[in-house]
Amino acid sequence: MKLNQLQNEIVELRNQKDVTILAHYYQELEIQEIADHLGDSLGLSRIAKEKAKTKYIIFAGVLFMAETASILNQDKHIIIPSLEACCPLANFLNRDIVNQYRKEYPELPVITYVNSTAEVKAESDICCTSSNSVNIIKKISKEFGVEEVLFGPDKNLAEYAEERSEISVIKMPGKGHCYVHSHLNIDDIQEVREEHPSAQVLVHPECEKSVRDYADYIGSTAGIYSFVEEHHTGQKDFIIGTEKGLLDRLTVDFPKNKFNLASDGLICEDMKKNKLETIKMLLENLDNERYEVKVPEDIAKKAYNPIEKMLKFST
Ligand code: 13P
Ligand code: SF4
Repeated sequence: MKLNQLQNEIVELRNQKDVTILAHYYQELEIQEIADHLGDSLGLSRIAKEKAKTKYIIFAGVLFMAETASILNQDKHIIIPSLEACCPLANFLNRDIVNQYRKEYPELPVITYVNSTAEVKAESDICCTSSNSVNIIKKISKEFGVEEVLFGPDKNLAEYAEERSEISVIKMPGKGHCYVHSHLNIDDIQEVREEHPSAQVLVHPECEKSVRDYADYIGSTAGIYSFVEEHHTGQKDFIIGTEKGLLDRLTVDFPKNKFNLASDGLICEDMKKNKLETIKMLLENLDNERYEVKVPEDIAKKAYNPIEKMLKFST
């Protein structure tokens, strides 16, 4: 991998300073290439908690990911390259909605997808990500001795986890969705498949049910990566039903295979707000508090337990 001049300057600064750069798979390739660690939301939460020993963490992802890192590392400075990089899915749920459901179903555990605000996490019994949702639902329902759980905010992940865990899920609020994944439809995929008839279709669980039912594999970004790692020798073509950043990664890491994006719409505009130029500026001004993500202490304290419990349950 040959880095350009700006990337080389960033790597040099990164190596001189007390900083770790984390990047989600949905970042532009040029950002993935200068990161210390690349991963899905579960993997990056783990790294933020267990591996990143530096005083500063630059988190190239969206706000909820940086907030999660901050909750797990109250003693560290968590910095995000764009304060506008939000996840609109997170805004479908707030503390009041969670509390209404709790009142109606006081005996049921509240599970929140990590794509949620810190105040929502603080009201939850446990968090989950797209890679551990099924396991978390099974374990928490067993702990509570119930056959039903409350789950928010993504309705598609809720349905997927319900199908796989065979535990009933009440969706909070029932309409939460990701604007990137929920717009993918069967017509888009079929159009690509006509050109690549033997390609396997790999999609994220945030996709609609009709798309999930059509897919050969459903998984988180890291799950899709691992699937390709396992199957790339016996399979030439793949159709990727998640954000383009993962396809870019796969194209570089598996050059003998062909990866086709299931739809041109699979771009998360929010993830793409992080830029190399800003990362360089932040490395030069690590004490600039403007880009620091700090969850208020009382919320962080309450939100710590559901995240920590998720990490424990996922080992
Ligand atoms: P992962 O958990 O697969 O990283 O997904 C995060 C996300 O935002 C999906 O849209
Ligand atoms: Fe949020 Fe969807 Fe972007 Fe993921 S892809 S960060 S769920 S908007």
